[in-house]
Amino acid sequence: MGFYYEKLIRPILFRQDPEKAHDLGVLTLDYLGRLGGLCRLMEWYNRPSYAEPIELFGVTFPNAVGLAAGMDKNARFWRAAPALGFGHVEIGTVTRHRQPGNDRPRVFRYPEHNAIINRMGFNNDGAEIIAKRLKKDSAHKKRRIPLGINIGKSKVTPLEQAVEDYLFSFNTLVEYADYITVNVSSPNTPDLRKLQDKAHLEQLLGELCRANRNRARKLGEKPKPMLLKIAPDLSWRQIDEILSVVYDLQLDGLIATNTTIQRGAPLNSLEQSGGLSGEPLHRRSCDVINYISRSTAGKLPLIGVGGVFDPESAGRMVDNGAHLVQIYTGMVYRGPFLARELAHALAPKQRVWL
Ligand SMILES: Cc1cc2nc3c(=O)[nH]c(=O)nc-3n(C[C@H](O)[C@H](O)[C@H](O)COP(=O)(O)O)c2cc1C
Repeated sequence: MGFYYEKLIRPILFRQDPEKAHDLGVLTLDYLGRLGGLCRLMEWYNRPSYAEPIELFGVTFPNAVGLAAGMDKNARFWRAAPALGFGHVEIGTVTRHRQPGNDRPRVFRYPEHNAIINRMGFNNDGAEIIAKRLKKDSAHKKRRIPLGINIGKSKVTPLEQAVEDYLFSFNTLVEYADYITVNVSSPNTPDLRKLQDKAHLEQLLGELCRANRNRARKLGEKPKPMLLKIAPDLSWRQIDEILSVVYDLQLDGLIATNTTIQRGAPLNSLEQSGGLSGEPLHRRSCDVINYISRSTAGKLPLIGVGGVFDPESAGRMVDNGAHLVQIYTGMVYRGPFLARELAHALAPKQRVWL
């Protein structure tokens, strides 16, 4: 399937502006998600034969491969994801306020490096509209795979008011989520990454955990699993500090990594600013996962993301300690059925990269 995508469809898509091609993909998948019968048939066909469900932070994932945040920012096509072979979807990043993001063009492909640079800036419909959409969709469609909701800070909100901004999005969206991801690592919202500093993080995550516990107590439920998504550009010392906060607050896991602002050789000639994703990020993301896995004796649930393109890179992520993997740029280059291929390869009886 990947072969046909790369030879026939990708050349046509790559003639278009990357964001227009993305919008076309979203529209197609949005329609596919409405065709319940076809989705079920595709889901059955694409189900990885040997995949065993994976239990992580109290959620059951049918396979190890998820869609990374940023692809379905507005909860448009998550219903179609199981038909492509995904085992979970993370929507967002969603912010409290609806926002247009940065000026276009803001997404750039680098096929010679299997990479993308983006400076989207959290363009999204805002927490309230997205909650309404999820409510409508969830009412008549039983959810087939876990749904993560990734929340971030609105651009108009100053850093000092970030906690209230995140709390609003959390409270508005939490009932629709199987897990919540707190995003403090995108490079395209001014000052956002400062929230990775220990003092900021303690305050932000402390308040979100408190709100989560209070809500759960009121409803007589368990708190929703809460994860933190981190940047690849942190030092080991910064990661140690983050881990101490994660332990103190008993956070459920980490997602590593977001895009990088580093441009090592041979990429120093790429002049566009923004976050770099794809193959050039893979090694660093694996190193970060490996470091965290070793520091936590493999006990902290980890979702590995960054340059997963094929069974070998997915296997490398798992071998370095990831319990699940997510993909974004790989899907742009290798096509919509990459998840299916990876889920097959990662299934316990297959492990074809070994
Ligand atoms: C165009 C684009 C938009 C993205 N938007 C988001 C986002 O809104 N929130 C987020 O947490 N990550 C976002 N990401 C980062 C991805 O989720 C992922 O962490 C990163 O791209 C590394 O994975 P990859 O190499 O498989 O793409 C975005 C990535 C791309 C390429």
